[in-house]
Parts: sequence; C-alpha cells; structure tokens
Amino acid sequence: MNIRRSAPAAVAVVALVAATATASVSHAPVRYPPGAKAADTAVPLMGWNSWNLFGCNVNEHDVEAEADALVSSGLAARGYRTVTVDDCWFDPRRAPDGSLRADPQRFPHGMAALGRFLHARGLRFGIYESPNARTCAQFAGTYRGSTGSLGHETQDARTFASWGVDFLKYDWCATDSDPQRQVNAFARMRDALRATGRSIVYAINPNSDVAGAVPGPTVDWSPLANQVRTTNDVIPAWRTRLGRLGDQGIGEALEQAPAPTTPGVASDMDMLVVGFIGVSPAEARTQVAMWSMFGSPLIATNDITRMSTGISKLLGDPLLIAIDQDPSAPARRVGQAWVRRLSDGRLAVAFVDDSPRPVRLGATPSALGWTGPAPTVAGAWGAPPRPASRGSGPNWRRTTPRCSS
Ligand code: GLA
Repeated sequence: MNIRRSAPAAVAVVALVAATATASVSHAPVRYPPGAKAADTAVPLMGWNSWNLFGCNVNEHDVEAEADALVSSGLAARGYRTVTVDDCWFDPRRAPDGSLRADPQRFPHGMAALGRFLHARGLRFGIYESPNARTCAQFAGTYRGSTGSLGHETQDARTFASWGVDFLKYDWCATDSDPQRQVNAFARMRDALRATGRSIVYAINPNSDVAGAVPGPTVDWSPLANQVRTTNDVIPAWRTRLGRLGDQGIGEALEQAPAPTTPGVASDMDMLVVGFIGVSPAEARTQVAMWSMFGSPLIATNDITRMSTGISKLLGDPLLIAIDQDPSAPARRVGQAWVRRLSDGRLAVAFVDDSPRPVRLGATPSALGWTGPAPTVAGAWGAPPRPASRGSGPNWRRTTPRCSS
C-alpha cells in the first residue's frame, strides 16, 4: 500500500493493522525518595486550561462558562473533562494560618465552590502551584506575592484535597535545574498528595523559567508524577524563531519530538493553541494530530464558549482521540513518516510537511514495519492544501486573549 500526500503544512493520519511495540526507558543518575503517587494513571489528560485565554485575569465566572461550554459542545463527553485553573487563582497573601486561599475578587465563592460546580457537571477540578517560593507569574513579576508551595507542601495538598481538587499542575518556576533538587521537590508534593488519601493526578513541569535547559526530557520522572512537560511553552504560532529555550510555535515543538518518555508517565508537549488567532486551520489540525501521535495530553485553551464548528470537530475527532489515549509508546520517525504502533494491533501513520512548495510524501507498508497481508486503511484524516502561515510570532502575549471564532 502507498500513502501519498502533496500539501504544504498538511498532515495525514492513517490507521492500519500491525503489531505492538515497547517503550524506551531513560534513567538519570538521581536518587528517588521512596513513595507512591496519589493517582495511578499514565493516560494523557484531556481537558481545558485557563492560562492561554485568561492569563492572570482568570475568574470563576469565566471558568464556569468554559466548563459549561465543554459540556454543551459535547467535548466533555469526548473526554475533555479536567478543567484547570492555572496561575494567579490565589490571594497573593496566605491566610494567617499559612493556608492558601482564592483571590477574593476573582473567585468570591472560593475554590471549593468551583470544585462543586465542576463535579456537578461530571467534570474534574485542576489547580496550579509551584514547588518553589513563587509561581511562574510571581517569579516573572506579573503577579504579586510569594505563595509557592515551598515549605507548605503538606498544608497545600490538604487544602487542595478539601476543595475536591482532582489534578495538580506543579510548575518549577526557578532558574536552576539541579536534577536531585527537582526530584526531591517534586517528591515532596507527590508524598503530600498521597497522604491526603484523595486520588489527585499529578503533572510536573521541570522546565519553567529554567535558564539554558529544558530538563523535562532528560530525567526519568516516572516514579514521581503521572505527567511531565517535555517542551517549553507553546504559543499560538507555527514558529517563533526564539530557539528551543524560548516560547515555541507548534512546528518548533514538533521538531523536538518525540520527546524521550518512560512507561508510567505521559509526556506533555504543552497545551493546545488551536482556536487562537495566529494558528491556521492546517496548523491547528497538525497540532491535534501530532500531539495525539505522541500521546501528549490534549488540553484545549481556546474560548470554548465561542469556538467555531471546525475547532469543535477537530478537538472532538474520535480517531485522533483514540490514538492519543492509546497506551502504546509514542510515534517514532520512519523515513518521511511518523509511526505509532497501537495496542490493538493497528498502525497509526502521519506525515507532516511545512515546506513552501507542495512535496510528495510516501511510504510502503513494509517500510512502515508492516509484515502481514495487504493492510486495510481503517481511517484517514488530512488537511486541504494551504500555504503555511507563520503565525503571530514572538509578539504574541498570553495575557491578551484573542481567539478566532
Ligand atoms: C509557565 C508554564 C505555563 C503556565 C505559566 C503560568 O510558563 O509553562 O504553562 O502555567 O507558567 O505562569
């Protein structure tokens, strides 16, 4: 069988019949404090996160509207169920007893009420914190205070559990990346979450604000967390040309892929930026398709209340979601193709090209590792020919939301 694509900035994903593969393991020379995770899952998270749309202006009214839209659009039924309030949800001063509390102006009903709102709709509640003294917005000087969890791990984990939190995004937010210090810090919150007795999915980002490195792919984080960030921040652009250590476009994040991964931890290529100005339809399709090929979490960040039918269909594409949620190892490069051997025996194949002129891409079944009789194409998905947009580049500001509708 031959697969042919001839379209710039296009991606095709095809499922065939094949055998399964095993994942590779990378070990770093660090000591892991013994302990178990609070939740036992490596299935890539699906949901929505407040950061790209609202930044530090996040408030309960907007989050609840996005949550309702996840349900009414049908995306929640497709799996987008974890609603995460990212940075800046908190009062920049802890309470007199040292506990975290919601920002009183933007979350007047408090975080427990938000958790109840989400749970009543069958959704899950995600929240954000940092293992260091300051969260990333505080570290960057765009939000007041110093309310990171350093020294408050047990207290904060208990607070989250009492609010009904189901997912924690724990963001490094410091310039150094000593692997042992990172492992110890991430283990402290792992143990604190576990001690609450509540099942809380734990996602770590070892990269944020680290100078001169992206440590996420370099250490085996699987004893510590359910999910690990392996890229820097992805913003609504195809390329930013800021280099690997700056904010990246979709295309640049893909060039790092597949990030090294270990069984038992999902490799997080950062949030989806589909639905934002600066991302063309072909680029949007490429991001969801390739994030699925790599088994990355699918975290929408666009305005769900005003999204187009096209974006809704893309996010809810059953073939891509099935590929994403499959427990198999992420895609690997085979010639011009990206290939992922799915656990049910099918083979997912993708081609990506962003060259300015149409090119011919192809692969034979044997080159893809297929050894059985003539395969059947179970599903095929692609993008129409369209020149690659270069996006809005480094001028994009995450605190000034502009969604395409
Ligand atoms: C870092 C993370 C982002 C976001 C911001 C919040 O940059 O990588 O995903 O959480 O912090 O400040």
